[in-house]
Amino acid sequence: MDKLAMGPRPYLFPMPTVLIGANVNEKPNYMAAAWASIANWVPPMVAVAVNHARYTNKGINENRTFSVNMPSRKQLAKTDYCGLVSGNMVDKSAIFESFYGKLETAPMASECPVSLECKLHTSLDLGSHFLFIGEIVDVYVDKDCITDGLPDIQKVDPVIYSMSQGNYWSVGENIGKAYSIGKEYKK
Ligand SMILES: Cc1cc2nc3c(=O)[nH]c(=O)nc-3n(C[C@H](O)[C@H](O)[C@H](O)COP(=O)(O)O)c2cc1C
Repeated sequence: MDKLAMGPRPYLFPMPTVLIGANVNEKPNYMAAAWASIANWVPPMVAVAVNHARYTNKGINENRTFSVNMPSRKQLAKTDYCGLVSGNMVDKSAIFESFYGKLETAPMASECPVSLECKLHTSLDLGSHFLFIGEIVDVYVDKDCITDGLPDIQKVDPVIYSMSQGNYWSVGENIGKAYSIGKEYKK
C-alpha cells in the first residue's frame, strides 16, 4: 500500500457546483456552494453546508426557504462571482433573473437549467458550518435539458468543483449503466 495519510479533510470527489438562492432583506441573493448533497428520497431532501459567516444564512433562517440551482458551464463566471463576493458587501440580486415557485420566498435563477425549491426541514450547527436540510417541494428544469422526461446530465452540462486544486471541471464520458454493469462481476 503506497498511500499518504493527509489528515482529516473533506475531500470527496466530485463536488457539484451549485448556487444557493435565498431572499435576504426581501432581495434575492445567490452564493456558490460545492458542499451539497441529496439527503433523503421520501420525501426528497437536499443538504447544503453554509459557513457561519455567509450572508445567505440570514435569508434561510428568516424565511425557512431556499433554492439549490445547478448552473451550466454558460453561467460559470457569474457563479464564481457569487462565490467571490458576499451579499454583506455587494448586492447580488440582479446577477440572475429570479423566479419564484410555490413557497414564494425561495428565489431561483432562471438561467440555471435545474432549480430545486426547498423548505427548511432541519438546521444543524456543526461547528464552522450550518448544515441546512431542505425538503424539495418542486424541481424546475429547462425543457431543452430533458430526455425521456428526465433531466439529462449532458444537456444540463453541470459544473464540477475540485476543492483540492480549486478548479472547475465538466462531466466526462459515460462509462457504464448503473445497477447493471455490476452483474458482469464474478468473484
Ligand atoms: C466553487 C465555490 C464553492 C463554494 N462552496 C461553498 C460551500 O459549500 N459553503 C460555503 O459556506 N461557502 C462556499 N463557498 C464560498 C461562498 O460562496 C462565498 O463566501 C460567498 O461570497 C458567500 O456569499 P454570501 O455571503 O452572499 O452568502 C464557495 C465558493 C466557491 C467559489
